Amino acid sequence: MGDRRLLKARQRRQLRHWTLFFGTCLAIFCFLFVFRSPSDGSSSKRSSSPSIARPPPEILENLSLTEDQCDAAFPGLTKEIDDVVSKGPFTVKQSGDLGPLQGRIKDGQIYILHAQRKSDLSQEMVNSRTAALHQLHRAITTSPTRLPDTIFTLNIQDQPFGTAWTYSRPASPAHKSSDPNARSFLMPHFSFWAWKLPFVGSVARASRAITAIESAFSGPGKWNQKIPKAVWRGTTWFNSIQAPRLRQQLVAAAKNKPWADVQPLEWSGSGSNATNALAIEDFCRYKYVVHTEGVSYSGRFQFLQMCASVVLTPPLHWLQHTTHLVKPLFSSSLDLQDRKRGGGAGRWDARKKKSSSSKKKKSAQKVMATASWEPSSRTKDTWPVQYGPEEANIVFVAPDWSDLEDVVAWLEANPRVAEGIARRQRDLFFGGGYFSPAAEGCYWRALVRGWAQMARTDGEDWDQKEGITFEAFSLTNGD
Ligand SMILES: *[C@@H]1O[C@H](CO)[C@@H](O)[C@H](O)[C@H]1NC(C)=O
Ligand SMILES: *[C@@H]1O[C@H](CO)[C@@H](O)[C@H](O)[C@H]1NC(C)=O
Repeated sequence: MGDRRLLKARQRRQLRHWTLFFGTCLAIFCFLFVFRSPSDGSSSKRSSSPSIARPPPEILENLSLTEDQCDAAFPGLTKEIDDVVSKGPFTVKQSGDLGPLQGRIKDGQIYILHAQRKSDLSQEMVNSRTAALHQLHRAITTSPTRLPDTIFTLNIQDQPFGTAWTYSRPASPAHKSSDPNARSFLMPHFSFWAWKLPFVGSVARASRAITAIESAFSGPGKWNQKIPKAVWRGTTWFNSIQAPRLRQQLVAAAKNKPWADVQPLEWSGSGSNATNALAIEDFCRYKYVVHTEGVSYSGRFQFLQMCASVVLTPPLHWLQHTTHLVKPLFSSSLDLQDRKRGGGAGRWDARKKKSSSSKKKKSAQKVMATASWEPSSRTKDTWPVQYGPEEANIVFVAPDWSDLEDVVAWLEANPRVAEGIARRQRDLFFGGGYFSPAAEGCYWRALVRGWAQMARTDGEDWDQKEGITFEAFSLTNGD
């Protein structure tokens, strides 16, 4: 009798386990296929790729998603980390008190092992460092599971160097460091925490403000009510070695043009504010937003990517943690002259088809004759996939801006294409939740795991250093 009762109890327990198991499977299934199924979003009819279903607010605002939930909600988010992890192990060397900050994560506690003194850094750098440490701290304290122990190096300079967490890396595969130990692990920008420019604030603040603005342009026919100009504000002398006159050339190309609202920023208050600045969300009131990289990446990019506006930029030289998700249409693939004769976007497809026919040679010549510029072989290696007007979510223009006027005119003549590109951008980066608090937490935790998996710390005397807790460090900040 006792045995039978025991058996019954066991069967009941097994039944409970199976119910729990199938319940979990069902939940995961629903999560994968219901949340991610193509939505009935307005752009899906135009777009040949399925549009992104926006994960619900309870997902996007949840800082404690599990790894599986992260992967399901934000496909492709961790590509940068996966790529650098696949390069294999590396050594974390001591960078010394003059080098970048190094810290230890142990049992979920952050310790600062050494850091540059505050007085040796600019206020902007101190702010970035403070932001990055708080971002990391938030991702650790909200983690649903314990993260691995590790020792990390935090580079808050604009440019990557050595082996560290960093804001950007060169996009070109030709750019290889001679140091086999070099690794750039991209981290989310400090503006996901805060940016002390009054016209920016933070990604979360801007995201809410942009959503309020975009809601006025979201219905059928509403996009055409945006200002039909290309907008830019910035500091003209802030250029890279690759393109030392990029910003001056832009200002020259757009000077006194009716299609442009391009102005060099007039800084005031010793560089903390500018008199002609636009609040970052107000860029979204324009159909076209011009993006310029700076000395390296430009921190404004993720703000412009939240607009349902067409970003116009020379082919990007730098990648941030989600830049791999852009789908560029090269203006060199458009017949900009044909637009002047009244031709439409259909030409793009027609030309693609012709070039694979027997008239290949002839049409290739024709493309050469009508293309406004030819991407360099380095650009083609960096961006091997060119997207058509019905798929793209960004437009790459001539690096010297020589076709900017024609590209704006072409987009104005093809408003359906322009709106599609603009909406696909916002649908992906805002709609897909890639800039949400949840995605940021997911990304930081993947970064810690990926780094810890490959970081080797033996033989570097790390045991000698105890460091001070992040909490104590946050009070002095390296005074
Ligand atoms: C956030 O996600 C975690 C992990 O799935 C879950 O345990 C928690 O209840 C969620 N929090 C909220 C407020 O929904
Ligand atoms: C920044 O400058 C703008 C324009 O001059 C001004 O309206 C705004 O109040 C300033 N903000 C701060 C925080 O100084």
